[in-house]
Amino acid sequence: MKPIDSKRAGSPLVGLTDASSSWRSKQIVTLTMNPALDVSTSTDVVYSGHKLRCSRSTLDPGGGGANVARVIHRLGGQAVAVYTAGGTTGDTYRRLMEAEGIPVLVAAVQGSTRQNVTVDEKSTGKQFRFVLEGPEFSENEWRNCLKIVGRTIRSGGYLIASGSLPPGVPDDFYAQLARLAREADVRCVVDTSGLALAEALAEGVFLVKPSRRELAEHVGATLDSEQSQIDAASALIAEGCAEYVALTLGEAGAVLASKSGAIRLPTPSVKVVSTVGAGDSFLAAFVLRLAQGYPAEAALRSAVAAGSAAVISPATELCCRDDVDRLEAEIAALALTFE
Ligand SMILES: Nc1ncnc2c1ncn2[C@@H]1O[C@H](COP(=O)(O)OP(=O)(O)OP(=O)(O)O)[C@@H](O)[C@H]1O
Ligand SMILES: [Mg+2]
Repeated sequence: MKPIDSKRAGSPLVGLTDASSSWRSKQIVTLTMNPALDVSTSTDVVYSGHKLRCSRSTLDPGGGGANVARVIHRLGGQAVAVYTAGGTTGDTYRRLMEAEGIPVLVAAVQGSTRQNVTVDEKSTGKQFRFVLEGPEFSENEWRNCLKIVGRTIRSGGYLIASGSLPPGVPDDFYAQLARLAREADVRCVVDTSGLALAEALAEGVFLVKPSRRELAEHVGATLDSEQSQIDAASALIAEGCAEYVALTLGEAGAVLASKSGAIRLPTPSVKVVSTVGAGDSFLAAFVLRLAQGYPAEAALRSAVAAGSAAVISPATELCCRDDVDRLEAEIAALALTFE
């Protein structure tokens, strides 16, 4: 592994939020099948057997695709968020999304949108995340989501399918979506885990963004060593599962594999407050950059900056624009490693 001059890789960096690059961006559509109303609160100590008195809660519209769309907007880009919603939690979710000023298309479902609960333990700084199961979908409901996406995507654009699938939705749903995207000349991006990930990879996608944990589960190995990470990401490229694999490694940064080889980028050193939304922020910046026409190496720098900006934000808060710009400038000094 030979560190190289960062200027060699990718175009000169201008700020991700540079307004002049938004107008020429390709269309980006995100899909959230299993959104969650994120409830965040804090308490002094988490223990069992007694009531835990918590602070007033904050509510955010969470779930992979919705988060990605929200970050893209914060960074000055445009994305259409397609998501499902049902019940009174779904009504609240819609209001929160509309308040963000993002163009949305809602697929109404019978069951209630789930809630996720995040509790910060003030005495230790630990975070407890309770992730609930989503509502059961009927076949009509999930097929309706495919129809809405099919009507919305435009040739040459990006479709980002992110997050888990709720009960009732078949494991090959993202694979079906990938096929639909390919037929429409749209680049399908998938961020999920387990069987839904395996099926999507078997179908073939443009970009997949597993975390180390997710790819390790997929290949049945720990992926502890740098070499095993490169090998696993590169194998997906060789097998035709994806054109790009962005393997995120938490505090160790990320690896990007494609047919041109693999590159690794560390993170800037930051004080971790909450890792919620790091992967979504990474993916949002990565795809926004590609949609704006930047090379993959530049997109990777922006993505690592956005992921790291998310971890310095409290609770379920996503990255904020100023932090991304500042960290992107710091990352410009870090060496990309070609493997
Ligand atoms: N502790 C950290 N310090 C600095 N940056 C971080 C840290 N954790 C995450 N990041 C940034 O966020 C990106 C995504 O993080 P990570 O690999 O944990 O993905 P994730 O999708 O959030 O994980 P998962 O889906 O398994 O919960 C990393 O590539 C990095 O840029
Ligand atoms: Mg993730």
